Amino acid sequence: MMILSNSIFLPNGMEAIQAEYKEFPLEEFNQNPLIQALPPLLDKATIIRKLMVKPIYNDEEKHAESIYRIHMINRLFQLYTPLPVHIDVWNMIHTLILQGYLARNPFDKNYKKYINDSGKEIINRSYEINSRQNFRTTSSCGTFIGFSGMGKTTTINRVLSDIPQVIIHNEYKGIHFNQIQLVWLKLEAPSNSSLKALCLQFFMKVDELLGTNNYKKYVSRNMSVDSMLPLISQVAHNIGLGLLVIDETQNIKKRGAEQIMNFFVYLINTGINLCLIGTPGAYDLFGKELRMTRRLTGNAEIIYNNMQYGNEFTLLLESVWKYQWTRNFVPYNEEFGKVIYEETQGISDLVIKLFVYSQQQAIENGKEELSIDLIKKVAKEKFRLLQPMLNAIRSGNPHKIAKYEDIRKIELEESDIRKSKELKKEEPVKKKKEDKVKATENIEEPKKKGKRKEYKEDDLRYLLQRGNEEEKSPYQVLLEKEFIEDTSKWIEVEGI
Ligand SMILES: Nc1ncnc2c1ncn2[C@@H]1O[C@H](COP(=O)(O)OP(=O)(O)OP(=O)(O)O)[C@@H](O)[C@H]1O
Ligand SMILES: [Mg+2]
Repeated sequence: MMILSNSIFLPNGMEAIQAEYKEFPLEEFNQNPLIQALPPLLDKATIIRKLMVKPIYNDEEKHAESIYRIHMINRLFQLYTPLPVHIDVWNMIHTLILQGYLARNPFDKNYKKYINDSGKEIINRSYEINSRQNFRTTSSCGTFIGFSGMGKTTTINRVLSDIPQVIIHNEYKGIHFNQIQLVWLKLEAPSNSSLKALCLQFFMKVDELLGTNNYKKYVSRNMSVDSMLPLISQVAHNIGLGLLVIDETQNIKKRGAEQIMNFFVYLINTGINLCLIGTPGAYDLFGKELRMTRRLTGNAEIIYNNMQYGNEFTLLLESVWKYQWTRNFVPYNEEFGKVIYEETQGISDLVIKLFVYSQQQAIENGKEELSIDLIKKVAKEKFRLLQPMLNAIRSGNPHKIAKYEDIRKIELEESDIRKSKELKKEEPVKKKKEDKVKATENIEEPKKKGKRKEYKEDDLRYLLQRGNEEEKSPYQVLLEKEFIEDTSKWIEVEGI
Protein backbone atom coordinates (compact mmCIF):
# COMPACT_ATOMS: atom_id res chain seq x y z
CA MET A 1 0.00 0.00 0.00
CA MET A 2 1.18 3.49 -0.78
CA ILE A 3 2.24 5.49 2.21
CA LEU A 4 0.39 8.73 1.86
CA SER A 5 -0.06 11.52 4.31
CA ASN A 6 -3.73 11.88 3.47
CA SER A 7 -4.73 8.43 4.65
CA ILE A 8 -7.82 8.01 6.79
CA PHE A 9 -9.44 5.06 8.48
CA LEU A 10 -12.90 3.79 7.70
CA PRO A 11 -15.17 2.83 10.60
CA ASN A 12 -14.31 -0.82 9.98
CA GLY A 13 -10.63 -0.08 10.54
CA MET A 14 -9.55 -0.30 6.91
CA GLU A 15 -7.28 2.34 5.58
CA ALA A 16 -8.41 4.64 2.81
CA ILE A 17 -7.06 7.83 1.34
CA GLN A 18 -8.78 11.16 1.07
CA ALA A 19 -9.17 12.20 -2.56
CA GLU A 20 -6.77 14.84 -3.81
CA TYR A 21 -7.54 15.98 -7.31
CA LYS A 22 -4.68 16.20 -9.74
CA GLU A 23 -4.61 18.02 -13.02
CA PHE A 24 -3.75 15.79 -15.96
CA PRO A 25 -2.44 17.05 -19.28
CA LEU A 26 -5.54 15.48 -20.89
CA GLU A 27 -8.64 17.59 -20.66
CA GLU A 28 -10.99 14.58 -20.60
CA PHE A 29 -9.34 13.33 -17.42
CA ASN A 30 -9.89 16.64 -15.67
CA GLN A 31 -13.68 16.46 -15.66
CA ASN A 32 -13.86 13.30 -13.65
CA PRO A 33 -13.19 13.07 -9.89
CA LEU A 34 -12.68 9.30 -10.06
CA ILE A 35 -9.80 9.82 -12.47
CA GLN A 36 -8.37 12.94 -10.92
CA ALA A 37 -8.01 11.17 -7.60
CA LEU A 38 -5.75 8.51 -9.13
CA PRO A 39 -1.96 8.68 -9.03
CA PRO A 40 -0.25 10.27 -12.02
CA LEU A 41 1.05 8.13 -14.87
CA LEU A 42 4.69 7.21 -14.60
CA ASP A 43 7.58 6.76 -16.96
CA LYS A 44 9.26 3.43 -17.51
CA ALA A 45 12.22 4.02 -15.20
CA THR A 46 9.94 4.94 -12.31
CA ILE A 47 7.70 1.95 -12.96
CA ILE A 48 10.71 -0.36 -12.78
CA ARG A 49 11.85 1.25 -9.57
CA LYS A 50 8.42 0.89 -8.02
CA LEU A 51 8.05 -2.75 -9.00
CA MET A 52 11.46 -3.92 -7.92
CA VAL A 53 11.91 -5.71 -4.61
CA LYS A 54 15.40 -6.46 -3.34
CA PRO A 55 16.00 -8.86 -0.48
CA ILE A 56 17.89 -7.77 2.63
CA TYR A 57 21.54 -8.62 2.11
CA ASN A 58 24.90 -7.64 3.46
CA ASP A 59 28.32 -9.14 3.04
CA GLU A 60 28.87 -9.68 6.74
CA GLU A 61 26.15 -12.29 6.76
CA LYS A 62 28.48 -14.69 4.94
CA HIS A 63 30.17 -15.29 8.25
CA ALA A 64 27.01 -16.26 10.08
CA GLU A 65 26.51 -19.85 11.17
CA SER A 66 25.30 -22.09 8.40
CA ILE A 67 22.02 -22.80 10.09
CA TYR A 68 21.10 -19.10 9.88
CA ARG A 69 22.42 -18.63 6.38
CA ILE A 70 20.10 -21.33 5.15
CA HIS A 71 17.22 -19.18 6.33
CA MET A 72 18.68 -16.02 4.85
CA ILE A 73 18.67 -17.65 1.44
CA ASN A 74 14.91 -17.97 1.68
CA ARG A 75 14.77 -14.18 1.41
CA LEU A 76 15.26 -14.71 -2.31
CA PHE A 77 11.60 -15.65 -2.50
CA GLN A 78 10.84 -12.01 -1.69
CA LEU A 79 12.95 -10.73 -4.54
CA TYR A 80 11.17 -9.35 -7.56
CA THR A 81 12.88 -8.32 -10.75
CA PRO A 82 10.75 -6.35 -13.19
CA LEU A 83 11.12 -7.57 -16.77
CA PRO A 84 9.81 -5.90 -19.93
CA VAL A 85 6.59 -7.91 -19.87
CA HIS A 86 5.83 -6.58 -16.39
CA ILE A 87 5.86 -3.02 -17.68
CA ASP A 88 3.20 -4.13 -20.15
CA VAL A 89 1.16 -5.55 -17.29
CA TRP A 90 1.52 -2.31 -15.33
CA ASN A 91 0.36 -0.33 -18.33
CA MET A 92 -2.50 -2.69 -19.05
CA ILE A 93 -3.84 -2.38 -15.50
CA HIS A 94 -3.57 1.40 -15.46
CA THR A 95 -5.15 1.75 -18.87
CA LEU A 96 -8.05 -0.50 -17.91
CA ILE A 97 -8.72 1.57 -14.80
CA LEU A 98 -8.48 4.93 -16.55
CA GLN A 99 -10.50 3.92 -19.58
CA GLY A 100 -13.16 2.39 -17.39
CA TYR A 101 -13.60 5.59 -15.41
CA LEU A 102 -13.70 7.70 -18.55
CA ALA A 103 -17.05 6.16 -19.39
CA ARG A 104 -18.33 6.37 -15.86
CA ASN A 105 -18.22 9.95 -14.81
CA PRO A 106 -20.47 10.47 -11.80
CA PHE A 107 -21.13 14.01 -13.05
CA ASP A 108 -22.32 12.81 -16.41
CA LYS A 109 -26.11 12.97 -16.72
CA ASN A 110 -26.43 9.90 -18.91
CA TYR A 111 -24.35 7.85 -16.57
CA LYS A 112 -26.34 8.98 -13.53
CA LYS A 113 -29.56 8.09 -15.27
CA TYR A 114 -28.21 4.68 -16.15
CA ILE A 115 -27.30 3.98 -12.56
CA ASN A 116 -30.68 5.10 -11.27
CA ASP A 117 -32.61 3.17 -13.87
CA SER A 118 -30.73 -0.04 -13.46
CA GLY A 119 -31.12 0.24 -9.69
CA LYS A 120 -34.88 0.49 -10.06
CA GLU A 121 -34.93 -2.38 -12.50
CA ILE A 122 -33.14 -4.58 -10.03
CA ILE A 123 -35.67 -3.73 -7.37
CA ASN A 124 -38.49 -4.49 -9.79
CA ARG A 125 -36.65 -7.54 -11.07
CA SER A 126 -36.96 -6.27 -14.59
CA TYR A 127 -33.29 -5.83 -15.23
CA GLU A 128 -32.34 -6.54 -18.78
CA ILE A 129 -28.96 -6.09 -20.23
CA ASN A 130 -30.31 -4.69 -23.46
CA SER A 131 -32.25 -1.94 -21.76
CA ARG A 132 -29.34 0.44 -21.71
CA GLN A 133 -29.94 3.28 -24.03
CA ASN A 134 -27.93 6.31 -23.20
CA PHE A 135 -24.93 4.74 -21.67
CA ARG A 136 -22.19 3.41 -23.82
CA THR A 137 -19.47 1.66 -22.00
CA THR A 138 -15.88 1.85 -22.99
CA SER A 139 -15.12 -0.95 -20.66
CA SER A 140 -13.00 -3.78 -21.74
CA CYS A 141 -11.14 -6.78 -20.56
CA GLY A 142 -7.49 -7.51 -20.15
CA THR A 143 -6.15 -11.03 -20.00
CA PHE A 144 -2.85 -12.16 -18.60
CA ILE A 145 -2.18 -15.77 -19.40
CA GLY A 146 0.94 -17.80 -18.90
CA PHE A 147 2.42 -21.03 -17.67
CA SER A 148 2.22 -21.74 -13.99
CA GLY A 149 5.13 -20.25 -12.07
CA MET A 150 5.92 -17.42 -14.47
CA GLY A 151 5.02 -14.82 -11.87
CA LYS A 152 1.54 -13.69 -12.90
CA THR A 153 0.15 -13.45 -9.38
CA THR A 154 3.30 -11.85 -8.01
CA THR A 155 3.33 -9.29 -10.80
CA ILE A 156 -0.32 -8.35 -10.44
CA ASN A 157 0.13 -7.98 -6.69
CA ARG A 158 3.15 -5.75 -7.20
CA VAL A 159 1.30 -3.56 -9.67
CA LEU A 160 -1.87 -3.31 -7.59
CA SER A 161 -0.01 -2.61 -4.39
CA ASP A 162 1.05 0.71 -5.84
CA ILE A 163 -2.48 1.82 -6.66
CA PRO A 164 -4.53 3.16 -3.74
CA GLN A 165 -7.45 0.80 -3.28
CA VAL A 166 -10.01 2.87 -1.41
CA ILE A 167 -10.44 6.61 -1.99
CA ILE A 168 -12.92 8.81 -0.16
CA HIS A 169 -14.48 11.80 -1.85
CA ASN A 170 -16.36 14.61 -0.12
CA GLU A 171 -16.20 17.61 -2.34
CA TYR A 172 -15.27 18.11 -5.97
CA LYS A 173 -14.80 21.52 -7.55
CA GLY A 174 -16.81 23.12 -4.79
CA ILE A 175 -19.69 20.67 -5.18
CA HIS A 176 -20.75 18.30 -2.46
CA PHE A 177 -19.67 14.83 -3.60
CA ASN A 178 -19.85 11.99 -1.16
CA GLN A 179 -18.50 8.87 -2.75
CA ILE A 180 -16.39 5.89 -1.86
CA GLN A 181 -14.20 4.76 -4.70
CA LEU A 182 -12.91 1.22 -4.78
CA VAL A 183 -10.24 1.45 -7.41
CA TRP A 184 -9.55 -2.26 -7.74
CA LEU A 185 -10.69 -5.53 -6.30
CA LYS A 186 -8.94 -8.85 -6.71
CA LEU A 187 -10.74 -12.15 -6.48
CA GLU A 188 -9.13 -15.53 -6.66
CA ALA A 189 -10.82 -18.67 -7.87
CA PRO A 190 -9.86 -21.45 -5.47
CA SER A 191 -9.35 -24.87 -6.93
CA ASN A 192 -12.51 -26.28 -8.50
CA SER A 193 -14.52 -23.25 -7.53
CA SER A 194 -17.96 -22.41 -8.80
CA LEU A 195 -19.13 -19.14 -10.23
CA LYS A 196 -21.43 -18.77 -7.31
CA ALA A 197 -18.54 -18.95 -4.89
CA LEU A 198 -16.83 -16.26 -6.93
CA CYS A 199 -19.91 -14.02 -6.72
CA LEU A 200 -20.08 -14.46 -2.97
CA GLN A 201 -16.40 -13.71 -2.71
CA PHE A 202 -17.09 -10.46 -4.52
CA PHE A 203 -19.69 -9.32 -1.99
CA MET A 204 -17.65 -10.42 0.96
CA LYS A 205 -14.47 -8.71 -0.17
CA VAL A 206 -16.32 -5.49 -0.87
CA ASP A 207 -17.92 -5.62 2.56
CA GLU A 208 -14.64 -6.39 4.21
CA LEU A 209 -12.91 -3.46 2.55
CA LEU A 210 -15.64 -0.87 2.86
CA GLY A 211 -17.53 -2.04 5.92
CA THR A 212 -20.73 -2.31 3.89
CA ASN A 213 -23.21 -5.13 4.31
CA ASN A 214 -24.14 -6.02 0.77
CA TYR A 215 -23.78 -9.66 1.52
CA LYS A 216 -26.42 -9.68 4.22
CA LYS A 217 -28.62 -7.18 2.47
CA TYR A 218 -28.80 -8.61 -1.01
CA VAL A 219 -27.43 -12.06 -1.15
CA SER A 220 -29.31 -15.09 -0.09
CA ARG A 221 -27.89 -18.53 -0.19
CA ASN A 222 -30.26 -19.93 -2.69
CA MET A 223 -29.84 -17.09 -5.11
CA SER A 224 -28.70 -18.16 -8.53
CA VAL A 225 -25.66 -16.77 -10.26
CA ASP A 226 -27.91 -15.24 -12.87
CA SER A 227 -29.72 -13.17 -10.31
CA MET A 228 -26.54 -12.18 -8.53
CA LEU A 229 -24.96 -10.78 -11.65
CA PRO A 230 -27.05 -7.59 -11.89
CA LEU A 231 -26.42 -7.02 -8.21
CA ILE A 232 -22.69 -7.30 -8.65
CA SER A 233 -22.89 -4.86 -11.46
CA GLN A 234 -24.97 -2.44 -9.41
CA VAL A 235 -22.73 -2.64 -6.37
CA ALA A 236 -19.68 -2.17 -8.58
CA HIS A 237 -21.15 1.02 -10.00
CA ASN A 238 -22.19 2.31 -6.60
CA ILE A 239 -18.72 1.95 -5.17
CA GLY A 240 -17.01 3.28 -8.27
CA LEU A 241 -15.15 0.06 -8.90
CA GLY A 242 -12.39 0.68 -11.41
CA LEU A 243 -11.15 -2.82 -12.09
CA LEU A 244 -12.15 -6.31 -11.10
CA VAL A 245 -9.20 -8.67 -11.23
CA ILE A 246 -9.85 -12.39 -11.18
CA ASP A 247 -6.81 -14.58 -10.65
CA GLU A 248 -6.44 -18.32 -11.15
CA THR A 249 -9.38 -18.35 -13.54
CA GLN A 250 -8.36 -21.79 -14.79
CA ASN A 251 -9.68 -23.13 -11.48
CA ILE A 252 -13.29 -22.32 -12.21
CA LYS A 253 -15.19 -25.53 -12.71
CA LYS A 254 -15.05 -26.39 -16.34
CA ARG A 255 -18.41 -28.03 -16.53
CA GLY A 256 -20.16 -24.78 -17.27
CA ALA A 257 -17.69 -23.14 -19.60
CA GLU A 258 -20.43 -21.40 -21.48
CA GLN A 259 -21.95 -20.00 -18.33
CA ILE A 260 -18.55 -18.72 -17.27
CA MET A 261 -18.14 -16.98 -20.57
CA ASN A 262 -21.57 -15.40 -20.20
CA PHE A 263 -20.66 -14.28 -16.74
CA PHE A 264 -17.59 -12.39 -17.88
CA VAL A 265 -19.23 -10.91 -20.93
CA TYR A 266 -22.15 -9.75 -18.82
CA LEU A 267 -19.87 -7.89 -16.44
CA ILE A 268 -17.97 -6.30 -19.27
CA ASN A 269 -21.15 -5.22 -20.99
CA THR A 270 -22.52 -3.58 -17.90
CA GLY A 271 -19.44 -1.40 -17.73
CA ILE A 272 -17.15 -3.28 -15.38
CA ASN A 273 -13.58 -3.60 -16.45
CA LEU A 274 -12.10 -7.01 -15.95
CA CYS A 275 -8.62 -8.38 -15.80
CA LEU A 276 -8.57 -12.16 -16.07
CA ILE A 277 -5.47 -14.03 -15.06
CA GLY A 278 -4.75 -17.70 -15.45
CA THR A 279 -2.77 -20.49 -16.96
CA PRO A 280 -3.39 -21.52 -20.55
CA GLY A 281 -6.07 -23.87 -19.22
CA ALA A 282 -8.24 -20.79 -18.76
CA TYR A 283 -8.60 -20.49 -22.49
CA ASP A 284 -11.04 -23.36 -22.42
CA LEU A 285 -13.27 -21.13 -20.33
CA PHE A 286 -13.14 -17.79 -21.99
CA GLY A 287 -10.55 -17.93 -24.68
CA LYS A 288 -12.37 -17.83 -27.92
CA GLU A 289 -14.98 -15.21 -27.38
CA LEU A 290 -12.90 -12.80 -25.39
CA ARG A 291 -10.28 -13.00 -28.04
CA MET A 292 -12.87 -12.21 -30.60
CA THR A 293 -13.92 -9.09 -28.72
CA ARG A 294 -10.30 -8.22 -28.29
CA ARG A 295 -9.79 -8.14 -32.00
CA LEU A 296 -12.75 -5.85 -32.38
CA THR A 297 -12.23 -3.52 -29.48
CA GLY A 298 -8.52 -3.67 -28.90
CA ASN A 299 -8.75 -5.28 -25.49
CA ALA A 300 -5.40 -6.14 -24.08
CA GLU A 301 -3.96 -9.61 -23.95
CA ILE A 302 -0.61 -10.47 -22.47
CA ILE A 303 0.82 -13.92 -22.90
CA TYR A 304 3.72 -14.90 -20.72
CA ASN A 305 4.87 -18.44 -21.23
CA ASN A 306 8.31 -19.75 -20.39
CA MET A 307 11.21 -17.46 -21.25
CA GLN A 308 13.51 -18.24 -24.13
CA TYR A 309 17.22 -18.46 -23.47
CA GLY A 310 18.14 -14.85 -24.04
CA ASN A 311 18.18 -11.37 -22.53
CA GLU A 312 15.07 -11.68 -20.41
CA PHE A 313 16.19 -14.92 -18.83
CA THR A 314 19.74 -13.67 -18.24
CA LEU A 315 18.42 -10.47 -16.71
CA LEU A 316 16.40 -12.44 -14.17
CA LEU A 317 19.24 -14.80 -13.39
CA GLU A 318 21.87 -12.09 -13.07
CA SER A 319 19.58 -10.10 -10.81
CA VAL A 320 19.59 -12.93 -8.29
CA TRP A 321 23.16 -13.99 -8.76
CA LYS A 322 24.66 -11.34 -6.49
CA TYR A 323 22.78 -12.75 -3.51
CA GLN A 324 25.02 -15.59 -2.44
CA TRP A 325 25.24 -16.51 1.19
CA THR A 326 27.78 -19.24 0.62
CA ARG A 327 31.22 -18.45 2.07
CA ASN A 328 32.78 -18.30 -1.41
CA PHE A 329 31.22 -16.08 -4.01
CA VAL A 330 31.20 -17.55 -7.50
CA PRO A 331 30.81 -15.01 -10.33
CA TYR A 332 28.17 -15.53 -13.00
CA ASN A 333 29.20 -16.95 -16.35
CA GLU A 334 27.39 -18.17 -19.38
CA GLU A 335 27.89 -21.81 -18.57
CA PHE A 336 25.78 -21.34 -15.43
CA GLY A 337 23.17 -19.57 -17.50
CA LYS A 338 22.95 -22.43 -19.98
CA VAL A 339 22.74 -25.15 -17.37
CA ILE A 340 20.13 -23.32 -15.34
CA TYR A 341 18.12 -22.67 -18.46
CA GLU A 342 18.33 -26.31 -19.44
CA GLU A 343 17.08 -27.39 -15.99
CA THR A 344 14.30 -24.82 -15.64
CA GLN A 345 13.28 -24.12 -19.22
CA GLY A 346 12.90 -20.47 -18.33
CA ILE A 347 10.14 -20.88 -15.75
CA SER A 348 10.78 -18.08 -13.23
CA ASP A 349 9.61 -20.03 -10.24
CA LEU A 350 12.06 -22.84 -10.99
CA VAL A 351 14.92 -20.46 -11.66
CA ILE A 352 14.56 -18.93 -8.21
CA LYS A 353 14.04 -22.29 -6.54
CA LEU A 354 17.04 -23.87 -8.22
CA PHE A 355 19.26 -20.99 -7.16
CA VAL A 356 17.96 -21.13 -3.58
CA TYR A 357 18.16 -24.90 -3.19
CA SER A 358 21.63 -25.07 -4.75
CA GLN A 359 23.03 -22.54 -2.28
CA GLN A 360 21.41 -24.33 0.63
CA GLN A 361 22.87 -27.59 -0.57
CA ALA A 362 26.31 -26.01 -0.95
CA ILE A 363 26.15 -24.86 2.66
CA GLU A 364 24.85 -28.15 3.94
CA ASN A 365 27.49 -30.26 2.19
CA GLY A 366 30.26 -27.94 3.36
CA LYS A 367 31.55 -27.07 -0.12
CA GLU A 368 30.32 -23.52 0.38
CA GLU A 369 30.16 -22.58 -3.28
CA LEU A 370 27.97 -22.96 -6.33
CA SER A 371 29.10 -25.22 -9.14
CA ILE A 372 27.68 -26.63 -12.33
CA ASP A 373 27.64 -30.18 -10.99
CA LEU A 374 25.90 -29.11 -7.83
CA ILE A 375 23.18 -27.25 -9.75
CA LYS A 376 22.58 -30.25 -12.00
CA LYS A 377 22.38 -32.58 -9.04
CA VAL A 378 19.95 -30.36 -7.15
CA ALA A 379 17.73 -29.97 -10.22
CA LYS A 380 17.67 -33.71 -10.67
CA GLU A 381 16.55 -34.27 -7.10
CA LYS A 382 14.15 -31.39 -6.64
CA PHE A 383 12.51 -31.29 -10.05
CA ARG A 384 12.17 -35.04 -10.46
CA LEU A 385 8.39 -34.97 -10.65
CA LEU A 386 8.42 -32.07 -13.06
CA GLN A 387 10.52 -33.90 -15.64
CA PRO A 388 7.69 -35.02 -17.93
CA MET A 389 6.43 -31.45 -18.09
CA LEU A 390 9.88 -29.96 -18.60
CA ASN A 391 10.59 -32.52 -21.31
CA ALA A 392 7.44 -31.50 -23.07
CA ILE A 393 8.55 -27.88 -23.05
CA ARG A 394 12.02 -28.92 -24.19
CA SER A 395 10.58 -30.81 -27.13
CA GLY A 396 8.75 -27.68 -28.27
CA ASN A 397 6.09 -30.02 -29.59
CA PRO A 398 2.69 -28.44 -28.99
CA HIS A 399 0.99 -31.83 -28.87
CA LYS A 400 3.20 -33.00 -26.04
CA ILE A 401 2.90 -29.71 -24.20
CA ALA A 402 -0.87 -29.87 -24.51
CA LYS A 403 -0.90 -32.87 -22.22
CA TYR A 404 0.14 -30.66 -19.35
CA GLU A 405 -2.61 -28.17 -19.18
CA ASP A 406 -0.76 -25.51 -17.29
CA ILE A 407 2.19 -25.28 -19.51
CA ARG A 408 0.37 -25.47 -22.77
CA LYS A 409 1.85 -23.18 -25.30
CA ILE A 410 -0.59 -20.67 -26.61
CA GLU A 411 -0.11 -19.70 -30.15
CA LEU A 412 -1.39 -16.30 -31.09
CA GLU A 413 -3.14 -17.73 -34.04
CA GLU A 414 -5.18 -20.89 -34.02
CA SER A 415 -2.68 -23.58 -33.21
CA ASP A 416 -2.43 -27.13 -34.34
CA ILE A 417 -3.69 -28.32 -30.99
CA ARG A 418 -6.80 -26.24 -31.09
CA LYS A 419 -7.66 -27.42 -34.55
CA SER A 420 -7.20 -31.07 -33.79
CA LYS A 421 -9.07 -30.68 -30.52
CA GLU A 422 -11.95 -29.02 -32.22
CA LEU A 423 -12.23 -31.77 -34.74
CA LYS A 424 -12.59 -34.25 -31.93
CA LYS A 425 -15.01 -32.16 -29.94
CA GLU A 426 -18.67 -32.18 -30.66
CA GLU A 427 -20.32 -29.08 -31.88
CA PRO A 428 -20.71 -26.75 -28.94
CA VAL A 429 -24.07 -26.38 -27.25
CA LYS A 430 -26.25 -23.89 -29.02
CA LYS A 431 -27.84 -21.22 -26.96
CA LYS A 432 -30.72 -18.88 -27.45
CA LYS A 433 -32.07 -17.48 -24.28
CA GLU A 434 -28.67 -16.97 -22.70
CA ASP A 435 -27.62 -15.00 -25.69
CA LYS A 436 -29.49 -12.22 -24.03
CA VAL A 437 -26.99 -12.25 -21.21
CA LYS A 438 -24.15 -12.76 -23.55
CA ALA A 439 -25.50 -10.21 -25.96
CA THR A 440 -22.73 -7.92 -26.82
CA GLU A 441 -22.51 -4.92 -28.98
CA ASN A 442 -18.97 -5.84 -29.69
CA ILE A 443 -19.39 -9.28 -31.07
CA GLU A 444 -21.42 -9.44 -34.16
CA GLU A 445 -22.22 -13.03 -34.39
CA PRO A 446 -24.19 -14.30 -37.29
CA LYS A 447 -27.62 -15.20 -35.94
CA LYS A 448 -27.98 -18.92 -35.66
CA LYS A 449 -31.57 -19.23 -36.58
CA GLY A 450 -33.09 -22.38 -37.79
CA LYS A 451 -35.11 -25.38 -36.92
CA ARG A 452 -35.29 -26.93 -33.51
CA LYS A 453 -32.58 -29.54 -33.47
CA GLU A 454 -33.47 -33.02 -32.29
CA TYR A 455 -31.29 -34.44 -29.58
CA LYS A 456 -31.50 -37.58 -27.50
CA GLU A 457 -33.06 -37.23 -24.09
CA ASP A 458 -29.85 -37.70 -22.19
CA ASP A 459 -28.01 -35.23 -24.36
CA LEU A 460 -26.97 -32.09 -22.54
CA ARG A 461 -28.13 -30.05 -25.49
CA TYR A 462 -31.59 -31.57 -25.27
CA LEU A 463 -31.82 -30.56 -21.63
CA LEU A 464 -30.66 -27.06 -22.32
CA GLN A 465 -33.11 -26.76 -25.17
CA ARG A 466 -35.95 -27.95 -22.95
CA GLY A 467 -34.86 -25.59 -20.19
CA ASN A 468 -34.77 -22.79 -22.66
CA GLU A 469 -38.34 -23.43 -23.68
CA GLU A 470 -39.38 -23.58 -20.05
CA GLU A 471 -37.56 -20.32 -19.43
CA LYS A 472 -35.07 -21.91 -17.10
CA SER A 473 -31.48 -20.82 -16.92
CA PRO A 474 -28.87 -23.36 -17.99
CA TYR A 475 -27.68 -23.32 -14.40
CA GLN A 476 -31.10 -24.32 -13.12
CA VAL A 477 -31.46 -27.07 -15.71
CA LEU A 478 -28.07 -28.54 -15.01
CA LEU A 479 -28.74 -28.37 -11.31
CA GLU A 480 -32.09 -30.12 -11.58
CA LYS A 481 -30.62 -32.85 -13.71
CA GLU A 482 -27.72 -33.18 -11.31
CA PHE A 483 -25.07 -32.33 -13.83
CA ILE A 484 -23.75 -29.84 -11.35
CA GLU A 485 -23.86 -29.71 -7.61
CA ASP A 486 -25.95 -27.30 -5.68
CA THR A 487 -23.33 -24.67 -5.04
CA SER A 488 -25.06 -23.35 -1.96
CA LYS A 489 -24.42 -26.69 -0.30
CA TRP A 490 -20.92 -26.66 -1.54
CA ILE A 491 -20.43 -23.18 -0.18
CA GLU A 492 -21.63 -24.23 3.23
CA VAL A 493 -19.21 -27.09 3.30
CA GLU A 494 -16.39 -24.81 2.29
CA GLY A 495 -17.47 -22.41 4.95
CA ILE A 496 -17.49 -19.44 2.61
N1 LIG B 1 10.05 -11.30 -11.87
C1 LIG B 1 10.36 -12.14 -10.91
N2 LIG B 1 11.41 -11.91 -10.11
C2 LIG B 1 11.70 -12.78 -9.12
N3 LIG B 1 11.03 -13.88 -8.85
C3 LIG B 1 9.98 -14.17 -9.62
C4 LIG B 1 9.58 -13.33 -10.68
N4 LIG B 1 8.50 -13.87 -11.28
C5 LIG B 1 8.24 -14.99 -10.62
N5 LIG B 1 9.11 -15.20 -9.63
C6 LIG B 1 9.13 -16.35 -8.71
O1 LIG B 1 8.18 -17.28 -9.15
C7 LIG B 1 7.30 -17.64 -8.08
C8 LIG B 1 5.95 -17.99 -8.61
O2 LIG B 1 5.26 -16.86 -9.08
P1 LIG B 1 3.68 -16.76 -9.12
O3 LIG B 1 3.05 -17.55 -8.05
O4 LIG B 1 3.36 -15.31 -9.20
O5 LIG B 1 3.39 -17.45 -10.51
P2 LIG B 1 2.01 -17.61 -11.28
O6 LIG B 1 2.32 -17.27 -12.69
O7 LIG B 1 0.95 -16.85 -10.59
O8 LIG B 1 1.77 -19.15 -11.15
P3 LIG B 1 0.37 -19.95 -11.11
O9 LIG B 1 -0.15 -19.90 -12.49
O10 LIG B 1 0.77 -21.33 -10.70
O11 LIG B 1 -0.50 -19.25 -10.11
C9 LIG B 1 7.33 -16.46 -7.16
O12 LIG B 1 7.05 -16.84 -5.85
C10 LIG B 1 8.75 -15.95 -7.31
O13 LIG B 1 9.61 -16.64 -6.44
MG1 LIG C 1 -0.86 -17.40 -9.66
